[in-house]
Amino acid sequence: MEIIRGKHVSFIDSLAHDDGVHLDIGTGDGRFVRHVAQNQPHSLVIGLDACRENLHEVSRRAPANAIFVIANAQTLPPELDSTATQITINFPWGSLLEGLVENDAALLDGLVRVARQDAKIELRLNGGALAEAGWSLDEGTRQIQHNLSAVGFDMRPGIALTTHDLKACPTTWAKRLAFGRDPRANYLRGKL
Ligand SMILES: C[S@@+](CC[C@H](N)C(=O)[O-])C[C@H]1O[C@@H](n2cnc3c(N)ncnc32)[C@H](O)[C@@H]1O
Repeated sequence: MEIIRGKHVSFIDSLAHDDGVHLDIGTGDGRFVRHVAQNQPHSLVIGLDACRENLHEVSRRAPANAIFVIANAQTLPPELDSTATQITINFPWGSLLEGLVENDAALLDGLVRVARQDAKIELRLNGGALAEAGWSLDEGTRQIQHNLSAVGFDMRPGIALTTHDLKACPTTWAKRLAFGRDPRANYLRGKL
């Protein structure tokens, strides 16, 4: 799979890590990955995004236990199979959000494929992105909960995130929402 550090691109064909592996899908500028990697120095933290331009800056300064993968969430690299002890998807939009809400088997089966047994999954969903995809925040959240349950995740009902929660969440998009016009967002979690 394709790894990026600054403007340097390399390829690795396997991933060995005995401790926790945290996979952040649709990582954007990777701020969340840097935060988790700094706070969990024994974990390997992987940020994955389809857009390489997002990742140049943060990957250049990333801690040693963070890596950034260029890939589409609909075709998660096989090198990630059965690796993730924790998956996060924060404020997805575009094909990542549509895949979750419209029950795209390639995406949902891929999430199961990369997860280890008992892996935890957390999603943060925002109202504006779901509205663009044709769903209300609560309907879209329930649909994503349903779709993840159908592939084997044991999901809890969504809960609303407050502006305070968003401000405390270490992702760039959370901050934008917290200080923007439409801060409505929900949090979903579950485990395999
Ligand atoms: C609104 S941004 C959120 C970024 C980051 N998680 C945050 O909270 O700041 C959504 C991200 O999802 C990524 N994305 C959308 N569709 C994707 C796909 N099919 N595969 C991988 N990444 C995708 C976009 O490139 C973008 O970086």
